[in-house]
Amino acid sequence: MALRTKHTAAPLNIFTIMSALARKERAHNLSQGLPDYPVAPELSELLKEAVINGYNQYAPMPGLVELREQIAGYFNRIYHSDYCNINNITITPGATYGIFTAFAAILEQGDEVIYLEPAFDCYLPAIEINGGIPVCVQLEASHNFEIDWQKIKDAISPKTKAILINTPHNPTGNIWSKKDWDTLADLISDKNIYVISDEVYNTILFDGQQHIPGYLQERLHGKVISIYSFGKMQHITGWKIGFCIADETITNAFRSIHQYLTFSVNTPAQYALARYLELPKPDNEASVFLQQKRDLLISGLAGSKLKLNCTTKGSYFQLFDYSALSSLPDVDFAQWLATTHKVATIPLSAFYKTPPGISQIRFSFAKEDAVIKAATDILARL
Ligand SMILES: Cc1ncc(COP(=O)(O)O)c(C=O)c1O
Repeated sequence: MALRTKHTAAPLNIFTIMSALARKERAHNLSQGLPDYPVAPELSELLKEAVINGYNQYAPMPGLVELREQIAGYFNRIYHSDYCNINNITITPGATYGIFTAFAAILEQGDEVIYLEPAFDCYLPAIEINGGIPVCVQLEASHNFEIDWQKIKDAISPKTKAILINTPHNPTGNIWSKKDWDTLADLISDKNIYVISDEVYNTILFDGQQHIPGYLQERLHGKVISIYSFGKMQHITGWKIGFCIADETITNAFRSIHQYLTFSVNTPAQYALARYLELPKPDNEASVFLQQKRDLLISGLAGSKLKLNCTTKGSYFQLFDYSALSSLPDVDFAQWLATTHKVATIPLSAFYKTPPGISQIRFSFAKEDAVIKAATDILARL
C-alpha cells in the first residue's frame, strides 16, 4: 500500500515563477514585493553587534522584552494610544507565519472564514490547512476594489468564525478608513467573529493617508489580531521577522501554538531591531521614500498604453490596466512582457482562486530608481 500524505505538492506560485523568469530573462524586476535597495547601515551594524555580543541563543518564547517594549512605545506613540504593552505583542518569524498561527489558534474543523479577493496568496492555504472553509467575497475592479459591505453581510453565516482583512492592501493599495472599521463593528460586534487583520504595510502610506490599526478598534476589542512585518517596515523581507498584537485571550491562544511551531524567533535580528527602533528617525521615513518611487513609476507610464485606474494609497504596489495594449490573459501578458520586453510584473489573477479575467498587472515599486526608470522607458514605448 502506498504511503499517503495529507497534502500533495502544490504548484509553484506565480510570484516564484515570475521572479525566476525575471532572473532568466535578466528583466527589470518589478514583480515580487521585495526591495532591491540596501538595508539601513545602522541596522546591519546592529545585527553584527548582536552576534559579536553573544545574542545567539534562544530568545524568550513571546520575543525579547527589549523589542516588545520598543514596539509598544513606538505603536502607542504613532497611534496615540496606551493599549500596546509587552503582554499583547508576540514576535513571529514574519507575517505569513502570524496569519497561519492565528488561524491555527482560533479555527475548529468546518469554521467559515470570510476573505476578500483580490487576496494575498498565503490566505487561502492558511485557512484550509487549519480546517477552515474559505468564503470568498470578490471585490469589483469596476469599483476600484472598494469594500462591498452588502456582499460581506451576505457572506456571514452562523458558521462564520473569522473575517480576514488587509490594509493597506496588496495588490490594490486601498486602505481601511475609520468608517470601514465602524461598519465592520456594526456588522459583527454582537457576533462571535474574529478579525485577522493583515497590516504589514502599516508604515507605507501616501498623500497624507493614515493607517488605522484593527487592534485599536474599541468596539472590536477581544476579537482582533493585527499582524505586522518588519520585513515590510524596515525593508528586510529576508530576515522574516514580524509580530502580532492582540488582547490577552487571543494572545494566549496564539502563543499556545507558537511555542510548539517555532518556540522562538531569531535572537540577533530581535536584538538589532530593538536597538534600531531606539534611534531617532522620522515616522514617515518609509512613506516619503516610497511615495517618490510610486510617483516615478506613475509619471514614467503617463501617456503610455498602460492605464492607471486608481492611484495606490498605501503598500508598495500599483495596478495598471493593459487592455489598450493587448487582449492576452494576464498570465500570458506578464510572461510576454518579461520575455519580449524584459520587464517582470505580477498578473492580477495571482490574487484569485477563480480569476475573473481582469486585464491588470501589478508593479512593485520597492525598487532602485534606475530599475523603475529603465522599465518605464521600455513600457512607455509599447
Ligand atoms: C499582504 C501581505 N501579507 C503578508 C506578507 C508576508 O509578510 P512576511 O514576509 O513578513 O511573511 C506579504 C508579503 O508580500 C504581503 O504582501
